[in-house]
Order: sequence, then structure tokens, then C-alpha cells
Amino acid sequence: MSADTVLEGARPPVPNYAFDPSDPWTTTMQSGLARAGLRGCHVYEVGVGSGTNVVFMLRECGAELVLGSDLDPRLAVLAKRFVEQAAPELHDRFRPIHGAVNLIDVPAALAETAEVDVVVACLPQVPDPYDAMCARFHVAQLSAPAGTVSQVADHIAHYYPWTSFHEYPYNAVGLGLIEALLRRVRAALPAAEVVLNLSCRAGKEVLLRLLRANHYRPEELASRIVRQHHGTDISFFVALEAAIGGTGYERDFVCEFYRDPHGYEPISAHEARERLAHPGEPVYHELCVLRGHPERQRWT
Ligand SMILES: C[S@@+](CC[C@H](N)C(=O)[O-])C[C@H]1O[C@@H](n2cnc3c(N)ncnc32)[C@H](O)[C@@H]1O
Repeated sequence: MSADTVLEGARPPVPNYAFDPSDPWTTTMQSGLARAGLRGCHVYEVGVGSGTNVVFMLRECGAELVLGSDLDPRLAVLAKRFVEQAAPELHDRFRPIHGAVNLIDVPAALAETAEVDVVVACLPQVPDPYDAMCARFHVAQLSAPAGTVSQVADHIAHYYPWTSFHEYPYNAVGLGLIEALLRRVRAALPAAEVVLNLSCRAGKEVLLRLLRANHYRPEELASRIVRQHHGTDISFFVALEAAIGGTGYERDFVCEFYRDPHGYEPISAHEARERLAHPGEPVYHELCVLRGHPERQRWT
């Protein structure tokens, strides 16, 4: 079967790759959402994907209304269809925003966010290995091109265009898209909380700093060690590690990968990538769900 499946009656075609509800990223995110106090809230999910979280937030968390959009225009269609099938009694409390929506960057998305209490997202935190600037960074650090990743149907669920987010300081560690979201939400919805599903591959401390630097007080809602997806190219972290080597900051910045599923045996990004080349050698990393409480604006 081709990567895309035309679901009966749905036009345009919607992809069949969107997250499956048993995926550890989804279950971890839902553990966090369950603790996020969403009862009665208006929630906006950026990168709505399959709609799995929409049903979870309406049914299990008691959200009053969920809005959702995605960069892949097929996914709002898929999410709507999924909600109608999985929770017909709740479907009128989900409002998809159609079209290709980067973060909340289209007028329809911005207009819809006016009364949102919480923004939730699980967005890519690995730069696209095809990105020209990322590829140059790679060659400079490792004298070698990025890994052998091929562009598959769910490419935009795993990678983001690094160059486009160059102006954001945390882009340097693969968090440019997340920082851009924080800035957009802060500007459009200064009182809204954010709930983010984040990988700790560039270090958990960096995630906490990212939130604080963008005027959110971080609170951890859930955490779990998950297996590194075998299809995701982690060469960016190897290059990052190489870039830090010899600068004197090696202790301050450490990529966090593990050999074991309990997180007892840390390994370098370099070793993690070597292991991933062999099917029987799994690699793990921590995932955490962080809530950002907006700090009050100080007017001077
Ligand atoms: C890891 S998946 C999570 C999907 C969904 N939250 C779920 O659990 O089913 C990431 C999602 O973010 C979307 N995405 C990637 N880049 C985006 C961007 N710049 N703006 C909005 N959505 C984006 C992808 O298309 C994908 O649906």
C-alpha cells in the first residue's frame, strides 16, 4: 500500500501515518494532559495530528472546547473524522482549523485563539537533516553529511526546518520551533498556559531554561523513558556534542541518551547513533510533559 491511504469518503486524502494511540509519545503526553487541570477549559492543540489527544482531552480531561490545526493540511481533516468516529457525542466540541497552519501563524488560527486557556503541543525537536544550514553544521562538525535518513511520509512529524528558526536562541539545540511557539503564544495569548511534550535529548535543564527565558514558570507534569524511534536521524545531536567538545562547556551541556530503559546507563549521542545502526541495540531517552505558567508581564 502507498504511504497515503484514501479513507472512505474523505477528500483530500489523509495520511495513514499519524500517531497511533499506543505510541509512547502519545501515552506520555496524555499522562501529562490528565494532570493539566483542563476541566472546563478551552484548549488549542498545535500540530493536532490524528486527533487522538483531542478525544482524550474532551472525554478524559473534561475540556469544554478543543481547537486544533496542523502544518500538514490533511491532518485537520483526519482529526475531524477521527473525533466523529471515536466520540460522536463530543464532536461538536472540536473545532478544526483547516489548511496548512504553521504554529498559529494564520489569521483564522489567531482569531480562534482569542478565548483559549491552554495551548498544547508535541512538535518536532530535531532539525531536518535536509535543511541546508543544518547540513553545513554537520559537515563542519563531523566532516560528514547527516545520516542516511530518507524523506518518508511522516517527515514533518519528526523534523523541522532549522534555517527558518535561526533567529531563536534555542534553535541552536534543536528547540527553535518550540521557542517560536512560545513567543507566538506569549504575544497573542499572554494569560494562556502551555503544555508541551518534550524530548530531553538536549538535556532536561535546557528545557527548563527555555521556558524561563520565554517568561513561563515550568512545572513537570509527566516523565517517562522511551525508546528512541529507530527512523529518526539523531545526527544533529552528534554534531552538537562535537561542537561543544573542546570549548570548556562539556559539563554544562550534555546530550541525554541511555543504553537501558530505566535511564541508569547514560551514553553519548555518538554512541547512541552507533547503537541505532544495529537493530538489536536499542537506545532510550527521557520524554517529559512540561506545563508553562505565564509569568505576569511587568510594564515599565
Ligand atoms: C509528533 S506529531 C504529534 C501529533 C499529535 N499531537 C498526536 O499526538 O497525534 C507532530 C505533529 O506536528 C505537526 N507539525 C510539524 N511541524 C509543525 C508546525 N510548524 N506547525 C504546526 N504543526 C506542525 C506534524 O504534522 C505532526 O502532526
